Amino acid sequence: MALTLPVHISKASLTFVAEAVGNVLQLQTRNSHLVRKLLCTEGFSTTFGSAYQSRQNSSKSRQISVGVVGAGGIASSVHIPNILSNHRIQLRWIVENKLETIETVQKSLYTEVSFHTSEHLESLLDDSSIAAVFVLTPTPEHRDIVLSALRQGKAVFTEQPAAENAADIQTLYDTAASVGRPLLTGFNRRYDPSYRHVYDCYKDGQLGKLQLCRLTVRDSPKPSHELMPTMDTNECNILSDIAVHDFDFMAWIMKCAAPESIHVVAHAHDPVAVEKGQPDVSIVTMKYPDGVICLLDSARESCYGHDFRVELFGSQGMGSFDNPPLSLTTKKLDIGALQKPMMHTFTQRFSDSFEIQLNHFLDCVEGKCSPCVTKDECVLTALMIEAAVESYKQNKVINFQEFVSNRDV
Ligand SMILES: NC(=O)c1ccc[n+]([C@@H]2O[C@H](COP(=O)([O-])OP(=O)(O)OC[C@H]3O[C@@H](n4cnc5c(N)ncnc54)[C@H](O)[C@@H]3O)[C@@H](O)[C@H]2O)c1
Repeated sequence: MALTLPVHISKASLTFVAEAVGNVLQLQTRNSHLVRKLLCTEGFSTTFGSAYQSRQNSSKSRQISVGVVGAGGIASSVHIPNILSNHRIQLRWIVENKLETIETVQKSLYTEVSFHTSEHLESLLDDSSIAAVFVLTPTPEHRDIVLSALRQGKAVFTEQPAAENAADIQTLYDTAASVGRPLLTGFNRRYDPSYRHVYDCYKDGQLGKLQLCRLTVRDSPKPSHELMPTMDTNECNILSDIAVHDFDFMAWIMKCAAPESIHVVAHAHDPVAVEKGQPDVSIVTMKYPDGVICLLDSARESCYGHDFRVELFGSQGMGSFDNPPLSLTTKKLDIGALQKPMMHTFTQRFSDSFEIQLNHFLDCVEGKCSPCVTKDECVLTALMIEAAVESYKQNKVINFQEFVSNRDV
């Protein structure tokens, strides 16, 4: 049974709900961090509170003990709330260097988990009871942390990309293979029901021979100007920051076939983007040896909400999906029909896929399956981005095979 709590809930109604659902409450619900938050409010204690606590205590021995490194944007808005809500995990510690971030996370998530700074990471990793580590730091910090965790025998989830370049990504996956621990990279679109459905339609042969793939990602809200130049050191970070999931989709759907050519056209519109030399709109075209043509369009700011679309055009049909609105309500007036706007952020749009991704990682930790995102896909995705950046810099079509033959991967 899934329980959905309204956002504004009184203590009295929570007590009622708690008594009513008692033993059947599943903590693995989207709002369970809200329940935790309410329960941890000072002086607040209910029947449900003690039931919740005793279930937590009795199941602790079966839980997977994990640590988190990095508690910033995506960690505090997605991963840490999901980890705290998931009954399969016990979060033992968080490593974060910024005091301000620690205070924000402690206040907003009402968690009593211990925080440490990165100089303690090695000793925390020494603890053999920790089975897995989540690496949620900025990308340039991933490599060394992932390597340390793997070498200490931990399973690792790392946010995407796993490292700054294809060669480092290869090193991480080779290390994971040599120590025999799973490494999962956070390409979370893989678990989104719409992406998955369109992928399955093609894989099942319903679309016939693939001819054209059109993928759109237009971000919302626009990242702050302070954040923009820190995202990636390359000269066209819209490709590694925004289009990255679409490159991953192409690696996935094309079964790791490499494109023969890549070409990028991009432009900076926002005055600060112009000043920083970072385009905020881009189009990537890729052609594959079997004739498939792919077009990825990306924008940093979409004023009408987070816009994700996919269209797979084949000899026997077309598979596509559009954006879900915030709600299905439609208002019909004499001037026409009004619909609710689209979701505003990627955390709203992909909340389900992040939860599914977490459970997939835990299955990998428990040895029930292997990571569905593979080394070859991650390396190919990184190489396609590197080639795309080169195309932008040189303003020419890049021959992908030639480009790869000059790299050390
Ligand atoms: N899957 C997605 O859709 C998605 C979306 C956004 C970001 N990301 C990825 O997530 C990662 C983090 O991005 P973010 O936007 O949350 O970054 P962020 O800068 O907001 O947060 C990173 C946090 O890590 C901390 N940190 C840095 N170095 C550390 C260290 N050595 N030890 C401990 N803590 C350290 C920082 O203080 C900061 O709080 C990046 O790799 C990014 O590409 C993925």
